[in-house]
Amino acid sequence: MSAEALVGLDVGTSALKALAVSPGGDVVSRVEVRYAPSTPHPGWSEQDPDEWWSAAGEALGRLGDVRPIAIGVSGQMHGLVALDADGAVIRPAILWNDQRTAAQCAEIEAAIGLERLVALTGNRALTGFTAPKLLWLREHEPTSFDAIDTVMLPKDLVRRRLTGEPGTDVSDASGTLLLDVAARSWSEDVAAGLGLDARWLPPVRESAAPAGATSDGVVVAAGAGDQAASAVGVGAVRPGDVSISLGTSGVVFAVRPAYRPDPLARVHTFCHAVPDRWHAMGVMLSAAGSLRWARDVLAPDAAYDDLVGEAASAPAGGGGVTFLPYLTGERTPHADPDARAAFVGLALEHDRAALLRSVLEGVAYGLRDCLELLKERGVEPRVARVSGGGARSELWLRILASVLGVSLERTQVDEGAAFGAALLAGVASETFTSVEEAADACVRPRGIVEPDAEWRSVYEDGYVRFRELYPALRRT
Ligand code: XUL
Repeated sequence: MSAEALVGLDVGTSALKALAVSPGGDVVSRVEVRYAPSTPHPGWSEQDPDEWWSAAGEALGRLGDVRPIAIGVSGQMHGLVALDADGAVIRPAILWNDQRTAAQCAEIEAAIGLERLVALTGNRALTGFTAPKLLWLREHEPTSFDAIDTVMLPKDLVRRRLTGEPGTDVSDASGTLLLDVAARSWSEDVAAGLGLDARWLPPVRESAAPAGATSDGVVVAAGAGDQAASAVGVGAVRPGDVSISLGTSGVVFAVRPAYRPDPLARVHTFCHAVPDRWHAMGVMLSAAGSLRWARDVLAPDAAYDDLVGEAASAPAGGGGVTFLPYLTGERTPHADPDARAAFVGLALEHDRAALLRSVLEGVAYGLRDCLELLKERGVEPRVARVSGGGARSELWLRILASVLGVSLERTQVDEGAAFGAALLAGVASETFTSVEEAADACVRPRGIVEPDAEWRSVYEDGYVRFRELYPALRRT
C-alpha cells in the first residue's frame, strides 16, 4: 500500500536529493541523482538548469510507492537562473561559487554606497551573489541579458516547472542582494540603483507558504535556500540555535530574533525560513569540496570512509602540515576571489595520511574563522547541530568540535536541506501549524560529539598558524 509522505527536494551542487518523510518525521524513501558543475573558464562555475529538472523528475519517479501530501524545495543559493518570456532557460546558471564578478561587485558598492547597501540588504556585494552576475551578463552577454523575463534561484526553477508559477522565498532571495532583508520584500531602491528591471523578480513568499500546486493538485511550498532549509532540518529554528553544515561549502549559521546586520558585513544577514526570524552566517566555499578535491587528486578510486580512516592514522595537527582551504577563492572571512589553497609545512616524513588530516583540519579552521566573527555578533553556542555529507565522519566532527570548542550534535536524518524542505512542505499543507512545530515533531537528536581535550590545545596553536598564513601568502 502506498504511504502518504511529505517530499523534500534539494537541488545541490553535486546532486539532487529527494526524501519522502512520514508526517511523524521518519524517512520512508530517499533518492540521490548525481551531476557536476562545469568550469568553462578558471574561476567560473556553471550548471545547466534543465539538468536539475530532469534530475528532479528522475528522483520523484524513483521515490517509490509514496503519495505526496506536499512538496518542498531547497537548493544551492545565489545561482543566477535567467528565463525568457516562454519560461525557457537563457544560458547555464552561474553558481554560488563562481568568482567572475569582482569588477561588478566594486561597481555595485560604488553605485549604492557600502553603508546603504548593508543597511538595505544586510550584506556587501560578494562575487557569488546574484545581482553582480546580472551586471556581468549586461556587460559581457548583452543578447542573453536582453532576453531576460524572469530571474530566479536554482530551486525556484524546479518549483516553477512543477507548478507552472514563478516565485521565490525570503531566505533564498536574501542572497540575491536585491532583497530588502528587514522588510522581507524586494528592494526597488537597489534594483533601480543598479539599473535592473524589478519586474524580473518573481513573487517572494515566506518559505513555508504554499506557492502553487502540481497538475495533480499537490501543494508545493515556496521552500528555502539550502542553508536555511538545513537549519530547519536539524531543528535550528529559534533565536540562539546554531547549525553547521559540512557540504561542498561549509557554513556556521545562527538564528537571530531580529534584523541586525553586521555593519562591516563580514558575516551574511539573511531572512530565516521561519517567519519573523533572521540568521547570521559565515560561509566558506570549499569544505567537503576540499576533501572531494583531495580524493580526486590523491586517491581517485578510494572511498571517503577509507580516506578518513587513513587520516585518523596521522597525528593531530597533521604532523606540522597546515592546509588552507581556498580552492575556489573564499568568502568568509576573506572576501577574496583570488585567495588560493596551500599545503604549508611539508617535510619528507609526511605521507598521504598527513595531507588528508590537514585537509580535515584546514576546513575546521575555516569554520572557526566563521564562528569567531559570529561571536563578535553575540553568538556563543555551547552546542551546534550538524548536517551535510562531511558530518557523517566521526573523525571530522571530533576535529571540528575540538577546533571550535563546541559540542556537535547529530540528528537522525543527516540530509538537512532535503529534510528541512519536507518539513516546510508539512507547514504549507497544514500538517503542522508552524515551522517550529514541524521541527519539534520531526527532528530527533542522535548523539553528541565532544571536543577532545588533548587535540584542543594542539588546535589552538594550529589555528594561530592558520590565521597567519592567508595574509602571508596573499597575492598582492
Ligand atoms: C550559501 C552558499 C552555499 C550554497 C551552496 O550562502 O553560497 O552554501 O548555498 O550550497
